[in-house]
Amino acid sequence: MKSLMMTKYGDAGTSLKVQEVPIPNFGKNQILIKTHSASFNPIDYKILRGDFKAMGKIQFPKGIGRDVSGIVEKVGKNVKNFKAGDKVYSRIAEDFVGTMAEYVISNDNDAALIPSNLSFDESASIPLAGLTSYQALVDVVKLSSGENILIHAGSGGVGTIAIQLAKHLGANVTSTTSTKNVKLVKDLGADKVIDYTKHSYLDESAKFDVVFDTLGGEHTLNAFKVLKDGGRVVSISGALDSITAKQFGLNKFVRLILAFQARKVTKTAAKMNAMYRFLFMSSSGAQLKKIAKLYESGSIKPVIDKTYDFKSSIQALEYLSTGRAKGKVIVKIVK
Ligand SMILES: NC(=O)c1ccc[n+]([C@@H]2O[C@H](COP(=O)([O-])OP(=O)(O)OC[C@H]3O[C@@H](n4cnc5c(N)ncnc54)[C@H](OP(=O)(O)O)[C@@H]3O)[C@@H](O)[C@H]2O)c1
Repeated sequence: MKSLMMTKYGDAGTSLKVQEVPIPNFGKNQILIKTHSASFNPIDYKILRGDFKAMGKIQFPKGIGRDVSGIVEKVGKNVKNFKAGDKVYSRIAEDFVGTMAEYVISNDNDAALIPSNLSFDESASIPLAGLTSYQALVDVVKLSSGENILIHAGSGGVGTIAIQLAKHLGANVTSTTSTKNVKLVKDLGADKVIDYTKHSYLDESAKFDVVFDTLGGEHTLNAFKVLKDGGRVVSISGALDSITAKQFGLNKFVRLILAFQARKVTKTAAKMNAMYRFLFMSSSGAQLKKIAKLYESGSIKPVIDKTYDFKSSIQALEYLSTGRAKGKVIVKIVK
């Protein structure tokens, strides 16, 4: 089968190649999916660039892509919840990366049926960003009706879903984006949009119950400047907290370094009696099933910026890595 492969560390233009590789073997609790569509996420170019080398080096060549939608081709002998012909989507486990290929394996409990009202392209836009938004807002901060939330980068892959989910949960949503995306973010339901090229969210008089930090860097610590005492900050790009460091199975020495780097954030949180959590999203078929219902009811609509065909998949990742995508970037594996 054809698969887009990472051949060395670097950028999309120089380090990716379509290669002929064997169809992967699947185990008794796994399904083999004939890929229809896939989508890229920032983690794909970050790993390619070598940002996560400290957590283990890549054995090249290696596939790329974590989001897939397609048709179940075959199932393992213990699989009860899927059969050949089912239309499924999945954020596949790290062991089975990548989805930019004609076939991909998923654990059966990482997959779910695609939302019945969506196409394969639309469904491929959901898994990683949808699960991240769901886990951040529902599992970590337990966002409730009437609360004020600040969601950064409302026009991004995660932000476009998080805004709609937060509105569905009954929250008052403020979101940041640049001038060209203000309308998009308003249309997604944000009650207030801050154009960061003209105003700083630090000038907001209102204080937030929750900040969803999708930007990291200075924005993680800044979250506490606009947070109510006792509020909650969940970050997907900021300092790793001790819970996540343990979840990664990092050794004590690395955890100590990370704790040192995160000390300002944890000290500030403690002073304000606030919660700080770093979230590293995880695959979950059960949650994809719940998320599918939100799309089927119309509470969340997919936002797709661009769709590329397989032979242009390298350009798709190049585009995403500009950091300017408005929603998701899709690759159609099957024409
Ligand atoms: N920890 C996890 O499990 C996890 C999971 C998913 C994602 N992430 C991380 O979360 C981040 C966001 O992911 P994503 O998929 O949403 O990325 P993305 O789709 O590439 O985000 C692009 C968007 O970010 C906006 N943006 C850039 N700088 C901004 C700023 N200073 N203020 C407000 N908006 C800004 C851009 O809007 P403009 O063009 O208008 O600036 C653009 O629409 C990435 O760093 C990703 O690696 C982590």
